[in-house]
Amino acid sequence: MRYFILSSVIFLILSCNSDKTNTKQMNTIINKTSFGSTPYGAADLYTLNNANGIEVAITNYGGIVQAIRVPDKNGKMGDIVMGFDSIDGYLSTHPYFGAIIGRYGNRIAKGKFSIDSVEYSLATNNGQNHLHGGVKGFDKVLWDAEIIEGDNGEVLSLDYISENMEEGYPGNLNVNVQYELDSKNQLKITYKAKTNKATHINLTNHSYFNLKGSGDILSHELMVNADNYTPVDSTLIPTGEIANVKGTPFDFAKPTAIGTHINDENEQIKFGGGFDHNYVLNTHTIKDVIAKVFEPTTGRVIEVFTSEPGVQFYTGNFLDGTIKGKGELTYNYRSGLCLETQHFPDSPNKSNFPSTLLKPGEDYETSTIYKFSVSKN
Ligand code: BGC
Repeated sequence: MRYFILSSVIFLILSCNSDKTNTKQMNTIINKTSFGSTPYGAADLYTLNNANGIEVAITNYGGIVQAIRVPDKNGKMGDIVMGFDSIDGYLSTHPYFGAIIGRYGNRIAKGKFSIDSVEYSLATNNGQNHLHGGVKGFDKVLWDAEIIEGDNGEVLSLDYISENMEEGYPGNLNVNVQYELDSKNQLKITYKAKTNKATHINLTNHSYFNLKGSGDILSHELMVNADNYTPVDSTLIPTGEIANVKGTPFDFAKPTAIGTHINDENEQIKFGGGFDHNYVLNTHTIKDVIAKVFEPTTGRVIEVFTSEPGVQFYTGNFLDGTIKGKGELTYNYRSGLCLETQHFPDSPNKSNFPSTLLKPGEDYETSTIYKFSVSKN
């Protein structure tokens, strides 16, 4: 009997150990290296690797997704996001490559909103409007990073405390953003926040995708599951109207090459210099695909899932070849596309849009998944 108990215990210990080894091999691991210094302290680069060889590199400076390396239809790996090889590029002026955007992603008209009859004034860093959180948004701060254990292996967890009146926003805001890569090649970003005073919040990620790795994105085929979008004025602030996409260049209900209507004679296209508009998603449960991008020469595919009601589709219309990015690549006009999952622009001033108000005691939580795959057609 004693022998039986002893051997069972040994068996149990051995099987637990071998389970652990197997799980480790199946699951995502994170490698941490130094990424250089910033005025706020040293930044690191965290590379998430899954069992299929997919790699996602993220720095805690701005929570920036620095690289996403995925295979094409022939198994050739390539980096599908724009950005820089070193921290210096990110410290210089650039259009938010890969970054966490906050406290408010997208525009707020004239940088003003009122809460309980108190008017708040934010920085006007985009003509007369406020854009992407102001002069020093969440894309330009150093986040506290921690590697934690999740259901699919290691997860990168970033924390930042945005103080009361930072960039003009009320309330101390505690923000947590987690990046998780699973064995189905899904990169899930979860955003959480809490405030001690009513404030507006709209967090997103600003990755510029190019599934070919270079050149323009006009031959990428896009599907967006949205019957409606929010037209804008000439300063890219929504008019408040929810307009049907049918019969307009904005209709991506069926997969359509982005270049097909990007230069159409259309006032909205003119205001955006191409596509730079928020779509009102038909569904946003995180279970349904809200957008899909397919690049025919490489076969690379991205599917997007989100709990957010909108997505800003931006075609890099302000890229003008003045920025040299990774591997000395010149970032030309329309050489990247963004699918920024979000609440609608200027929601604080639009009572018919879903609210972005966060009150003390409430939990802000949203999530978005970018799923990478290949398809022959
Ligand atoms: C906006 C664009 C802007 C770009 C970079 C996008 O989210 O919609 O208008 O140029 O970000 O700032």
